[in-house]
Amino acid sequence: SGYVTLDRGFKNTGSTKSAITYLDGENGILHYRGYPIEQLAEKSNFLEVAYLLIYGELPTQPQLDSFAREISIHTLVNEDMRKIFDGFPYNGHPMGILSALVCSLTAFYPESQDPNKYEETLDATIIRLLAKMPTIAAWAYKNSQGHPLNYPKNNLDYCSNFLYMMFALPVEEYQIDPVIVDALNKLLILHADHEQNCSTSTVRLVGSSRASLYSSVSAGINALWGPLHGGANQEVIEMLEAIKKDGGDTTKFINKAKDKNDNFRLMGFGHRVYKNFDPRAKIIKKAADQVLQQLGINDPVLEIAKKLEEAALSDQYFVERRLYPNVDFYSGIIYRALGIPTNMFTVMFALGRLPGWIAQWKEMRDQKEPIGRPRQIYTGYTERNYVGINERK
Ligand code: CMC
Repeated sequence: SGYVTLDRGFKNTGSTKSAITYLDGENGILHYRGYPIEQLAEKSNFLEVAYLLIYGELPTQPQLDSFAREISIHTLVNEDMRKIFDGFPYNGHPMGILSALVCSLTAFYPESQDPNKYEETLDATIIRLLAKMPTIAAWAYKNSQGHPLNYPKNNLDYCSNFLYMMFALPVEEYQIDPVIVDALNKLLILHADHEQNCSTSTVRLVGSSRASLYSSVSAGINALWGPLHGGANQEVIEMLEAIKKDGGDTTKFINKAKDKNDNFRLMGFGHRVYKNFDPRAKIIKKAADQVLQQLGINDPVLEIAKKLEEAALSDQYFVERRLYPNVDFYSGIIYRALGIPTNMFTVMFALGRLPGWIAQWKEMRDQKEPIGRPRQIYTGYTERNYVGINERK
C-alpha cells in the first residue's frame, strides 16, 4: 500500500550502506576498503585482497599465512562430488556446472543452512568457498576435455594451484610460469569487488531471506553468467573472432551496434556507472600488452580490439552515450594468452568476484539488513469474474 516510486534497473536507487568498495563513475575511481585499485593490482596478491575485502584490513604476515594455510587445507571437495561431475555432459557450460556444484555444497555442509548457526559456521564456510571453488572450476574444465581430474597440490600458492589443476596432465611435467601467475593475480584482484552490481545484489538479496552463503553465491554465479554482466568477457572474444573472420572491418560492427533495429551491442563497451572510463579496463589494456609480450604471443585479436576501441571512441554515437571499454574488453585476450579456453572466461570472473560476494553477504548479515523485497506498480486487469472452461472463447 502507499506510494511506490519506480526505478527500473535500479538506476538511481541505493539498496544499502556499505563500507567495502568506493566507486566514482564520473572520475573513474575504484577503491577496495580505501585502497586504490591501481595500487592493489600492482603490489598485492589475490588472497591478500580477498582478506582485505572480507575482514576490512590488509592482513599482517601471520594473519595472511594462517588464512592461506586454512584455505589450502580445504581445497579437496568431497569424493561424492565427482559422481555429480560424471552426470554432466562433456559440453555442458562450466558456469552451469559451477553454480550447481557450489549449491550442492549445502548438502555436504548442512549446518551452514541453519540461520541460527550463522556465526559459528561462517568462517568455515568462507574458507571452504575460497578453497573449493577453484577445484570445482578446474574440474569442470577437465570434465569438458575428457581428461583425468587433478587433485589440488597444497604446497602451491592459490593461483599456481588453480593453474596446476587446470593444465597439468599425467603424461608430461607441468611448469608453472611466474608471468602467468602474476597476470592471474592481477586479473582476479581487478574483478574482486564492484559494489552493488547485478550478481552482488543477487547474492545480498538471496542472503537477505537468511539463505546460506553457499546458496547465495550459487545464485550470484547465475546472475554473473548473463552476457550483459560477466558473460560479456566470453562474448567479447567471440565478437573479435567474428570481426577477424569477416576480414577485420570494424566499421561494419560499429554500425551494427549503432543500429537500433539490431540487437547486437559492442560487447565489453559501456557501463552503468563509469561514464568517462573504467579504471580496471585501463590497467587490463596495459597488462594485455605486457603479458603477450612477456609470453612471446602475437594475437591478431589484440590489434582488432585496439582498432575497434579507437573507432568507437571517435564515433558520435559512443561519445554521446559515454560508452567506453569496460573490464571485460581486454580481459579475455589475457585469459586466452594464459591458455584459458573461452567458455571458462566467466568462470574466471566468478573466481575473482568470490571475495566480493562473500564480503558483501557478510556485511549484509552483520548489518542485520531486512529481507529485500521491492514493490511494483500493477498494470494488469482490474477484478473480473471466473469463466467456466466451456464458456471461454
Ligand atoms: N553497444 C551499443 N550501444 C550501447 C552499448 C553497447 N555496448 N551499451 C549501451 N548502449 C546504448 C544503449 O543502446 C542506450 O542507447 P539509447 O539511449 O539510444 O537507447 C544507451 O547506450 C544507454 O545504455 P543502457 O543499456 O540504457 O545502459 P545500462 O546502464 O542499462 O547498461 C550495460 C549498461 C553494461 C549493460 C550496457 O552498456 C551493455 O549492454 N554493454 C555491453 C555488455 C557488457 O560489456 N557488459 C559488461 C559490463 S562491465 C562488467 C560486468 O558487469 O560484467
